[in-house]
Amino acid sequence: MSESIPQRFSDLVTLRRRVADWRRAGERVVLVPTMGALHEGHLALVAEGRRIGRRVVASIFVNPTQFGPNEDFSRYPRDLEADLALLARAGADAAWTPAAEIMYPPGFSTRIDVSGLTEGLCGPCRPGHFSGVATVVTKLLNQVVPDVALFGEKDFQQLRVIQQAVADLDLAVEIRGVPTVREADGLALSSRNRYLSPEERAAAPRLHAVLAEIAAGTRGGMPVAGPLAEGRAALEAAGFHVQYLAVCDARTLEPVERANGPARVLVAAFLGRTRLIDNVAVREAF
Ligand code: PAF
Repeated sequence: MSESIPQRFSDLVTLRRRVADWRRAGERVVLVPTMGALHEGHLALVAEGRRIGRRVVASIFVNPTQFGPNEDFSRYPRDLEADLALLARAGADAAWTPAAEIMYPPGFSTRIDVSGLTEGLCGPCRPGHFSGVATVVTKLLNQVVPDVALFGEKDFQQLRVIQQAVADLDLAVEIRGVPTVREADGLALSSRNRYLSPEERAAAPRLHAVLAEIAAGTRGGMPVAGPLAEGRAALEAAGFHVQYLAVCDARTLEPVERANGPARVLVAAFLGRTRLIDNVAVREAF
């Protein structure tokens, strides 16, 4: 693994020149978009990038347009030096760290809205969120021009929304999901886990355990209503406030009554002030 510090780019022209050089030399470029506050989940994306490509660019930008007015944009953890050190350890070649004025210069007036996939799950709970994500990711893809971009499956709806936007807009990039990285007790890694109090952290693994129980109880086309009701009750008993808990078609994200095709159990729940999301596949191994 390369130990060298990734080259940091804050200027778009310089970044584009470097990536164009790599591509001209026939090197496959992989983009890992992030909002910083990096953890092992992000590093797994960089590792996958190194496995499938020759050059890995990680972007770090806390995107204001995907946060609602009462969400955690201002307190979202930011530690660029620590992030760059982690990217060095993971072997990223470049860090793209644009300033807000580069992403959203005065007069910026375009947004990308993906319908359908954004109408359920996190969509109604976070109005405007997916439009902010689709817009910033499209910009990042056009800025870096990678061959492949990698996203964690923890944000499964985000992954599907980005795949749809890229297909609809004919962007010449492959979007791939990478399996969720978990703590030993099952908690999905997330930059927001650091908001949890010790008591909340102790309760948090229940989220994944309940998803796994529901996935097991709904395999083979069994009705989902019973396992979902039991799962919701178990989460509320453990101190979660459940925003949604559903079994959905893995492609359309529409709720299903029986998981007869590829499906996911997806959840969003608050533990205190911290909103956690997670999902597991029903029909695949997890
Ligand atoms: O998943 C994230 O960290 C963000 O939503 C992303 C994809 C980097 C866009 O800001």
